[in-house]
Amino acid sequence: MSAPKKLYIKTYGCQMNVYDSERMAEALGGEGYVPTESAADADMILLNTCHIREKAAEKVYSELGRYKGLKAEKPDLKIGVAGCVAQAEGAEIMRRQPMVDLVVGPQSYHRLPELEARARDGQKALDTDFPEEDKFDHLKARPKARRGPTAFLTVQEGCDKFCAFCVVPYTRGAEVSRPADRILSEARDLVERGVREITLLGQNVNAYHGHERGLAGLIRALAGIDGLARIRFTTSHPNDMDDELIAAHGDCEKLMPYLHLPVQSGSDHILKRMNRQHTRAQYFDIIDRLRKVRPDLHLSGDFIVGFPEETEADFEDTLDLIERVGYGSAFSFKYSTRPGTPAAERAQLDEEVKDARLQRLQALLTRQQRALQDAMVGREVSVLFEKPGRLPGQMVGKSEYLHAVHVAADGLAAGDLRRVRVVESGPNSLKGVLV
Ligand code: 5AD
Ligand code: SF4
Repeated sequence: MSAPKKLYIKTYGCQMNVYDSERMAEALGGEGYVPTESAADADMILLNTCHIREKAAEKVYSELGRYKGLKAEKPDLKIGVAGCVAQAEGAEIMRRQPMVDLVVGPQSYHRLPELEARARDGQKALDTDFPEEDKFDHLKARPKARRGPTAFLTVQEGCDKFCAFCVVPYTRGAEVSRPADRILSEARDLVERGVREITLLGQNVNAYHGHERGLAGLIRALAGIDGLARIRFTTSHPNDMDDELIAAHGDCEKLMPYLHLPVQSGSDHILKRMNRQHTRAQYFDIIDRLRKVRPDLHLSGDFIVGFPEETEADFEDTLDLIERVGYGSAFSFKYSTRPGTPAAERAQLDEEVKDARLQRLQALLTRQQRALQDAMVGREVSVLFEKPGRLPGQMVGKSEYLHAVHVAADGLAAGDLRRVRVVESGPNSLKGVLV
């Protein structure tokens, strides 16, 4: 038997890419590939790319440039580009970087074994279609090997919202939901393999319609799986936070009290120009209703500063929204033009203005996050342990609010779910003792 071929995957961007990379590795496992952590050892290098913000394509080209030497030493090395840059750039990638053998868009991963065979044959292989079939049905089933206690599971892809800054509706296409029965069987399989927490993924996950009662229906069905202890989901749009999903946050014990609900801006004028289709008052109303049923809910958000036409007053509205909501964590970005999106055509703000606003926004968010984290000291949380910590005898896991918690105790193992009293708050994590 020939030695297994080695596959090196480098993943950029969001959690959905992390999930896709796992599934691609499994699909290529069927073709005799085993994973490697080192590009230098690989027989195939696959870059799973992200196109959400500026310079994404440039980063990919410069990463590819670094593999030139490897390819010269090892002519049989195959190099592939997957993900949203592959979708957006297509054949242009092969034109600019002829050493690329394979380009595959996110909706065509089930065709990867076929594309790999073509590449191995010395041909160029390209697939950036949006096929009718569900790629996950056609991807090899996940193998039965044991795995860590947390997993991502994609339930929905694509987006129909067309926010004026965003490339996702173009790179990932229209909203498509996977049928609930397939998701349930994949989840059962993950649980058999040792998974205790599943994060449901979708570009617009709360628009999920593969269950007659939407995402809330799917969550309640998943909650019926013995051995599955925790459910999370990300990323959501405020307009799809329906009553059932809000109610689930109050009465579904396995649904964790943490919600990523991006608002992007706190100014009604900017929200309108972003085509977000809701106002700040509507956002506050959703948060109020969520907190009524789950007062300890930790909120997370995404913010864009320096969107075209954003005035100082608009920006202050964003700061004010943040003050009022109180975020447990958040991601913030300077607006960057994405070719093909409506806002890219508008007059742009000065870079210095964007930089200064981003700094002010991040200072506020950091202060807020730190205060909420510090407020955990003295409280009891549940921790799902994931891996050893830096210090001997220590394990680290996540609380229900997604804080990293370090605990030193004998006999703790990955997958244990234990009550912990928080005793200290550090720069990025909490320290606790078993209760
Ligand atoms: N510029 C800056 N940030 C962006 N995002 C999406 N598109 C852009 C852009 N053109 C941010 C949004 C989104 C997150 C995933 O990335 O905040 O929620
Ligand atoms: Fe992009 Fe999210 Fe807006 Fe869809 S809802 S267009 S993914 S920012």
